[in-house]
Amino acid sequence: MNHPSDGNRKLFDLQGQVAVITGASRGIGRAIALRFAEHGARVVVSSRKLDACEQVVNTIRAAGGEAIATTCHIGHKEALQQLVEQTMTTWGRIDTLVCNAAVNPYFGPSRDMPDEAYDRVMNSNVRSNFWLCNMVAPVMKTQGGGCIIIISSIGGFQGSDRLGVYCISKAADMQLARNLAVEWGDSNVRANCIAPGLIKTDFAKALWDNPSILEKSVAHTPLGRIGEPDEIAGAAVFLASAAGSYTTGQTLTIDGGRTCGMSRSD
Ligand SMILES: NC(=O)c1ccc[n+]([C@@H]2O[C@H](COP(=O)([O-])OP(=O)(O)OC[C@H]3O[C@@H](n4cnc5c(N)ncnc54)[C@H](OP(=O)(O)O)[C@@H]3O)[C@@H](O)[C@H]2O)c1
Repeated sequence: MNHPSDGNRKLFDLQGQVAVITGASRGIGRAIALRFAEHGARVVVSSRKLDACEQVVNTIRAAGGEAIATTCHIGHKEALQQLVEQTMTTWGRIDTLVCNAAVNPYFGPSRDMPDEAYDRVMNSNVRSNFWLCNMVAPVMKTQGGGCIIIISSIGGFQGSDRLGVYCISKAADMQLARNLAVEWGDSNVRANCIAPGLIKTDFAKALWDNPSILEKSVAHTPLGRIGEPDEIAGAAVFLASAAGSYTTGQTLTIDGGRTCGMSRSD
């Protein structure tokens, strides 16, 4: 399963796989859903809004792929259970899980953050991923293996005076992937994070839509621009396919070089 020696699989082929993706109606999750389907996976497209997920499914089907849409608010444990059950009822397996949905309801110094906002960030970005991974990993074990991908952030490598608790949650996701890798490795279940830099999606609009923040970000990025959702989707295809079969417990940073050094003008 997902091993280069299994039936001479092509390295980036996802034929026969079933992939579940949270927050797949827009942005990075949508790009992963479209690219997974393009590489042969059957995709479960989920978010809080069914009509938005159905649009992604229609795009996948129009291109000849297979997908279903379902609602899943990641904050609710029973909704996560329902997501797993619906996938099993429809396709009977889960090969790849992408924990992509996350929230950030607060922008400012963390010392002023209300408890309610703290709880929302940590519950959605860490505890929900923890729940969902622990629901899916046993299914993967019975199938002989599987792949868990958690979308973290380069914020998880750095302190921040505006996004502090969000960054704490994204650092916790990296540790969650490492821990899952250790606990499930003997069942051939791999777990990794992808840590994107600034990507042009609705989630980060407040950053890339603000000329002074955008200018600063680009100036500190060796490639001199922000990223596109597809530039994250490619790494997800790598991790889910035979190409990623010896990769586990890692965080792949995809940030145009933002975290590798000083600004371009230094
Ligand atoms: N964009 C960036 O610069 C950037 C950088 C680093 C990391 N990331 C990470 O990348 C991931 C995806 O972000 P994005 O930029 O693609 O965001 P986005 O374009 O705003 O999309 C977010 C997706 O999550 C869904 N969603 C939001 N809250 C949800 C909830 N409680 N339950 C289920 N689904 C929910 C949204 O759909 P509905 O509204 O229909 O629910 C949507 O499909 C996040 O984990 C984020 O932290 C983003």
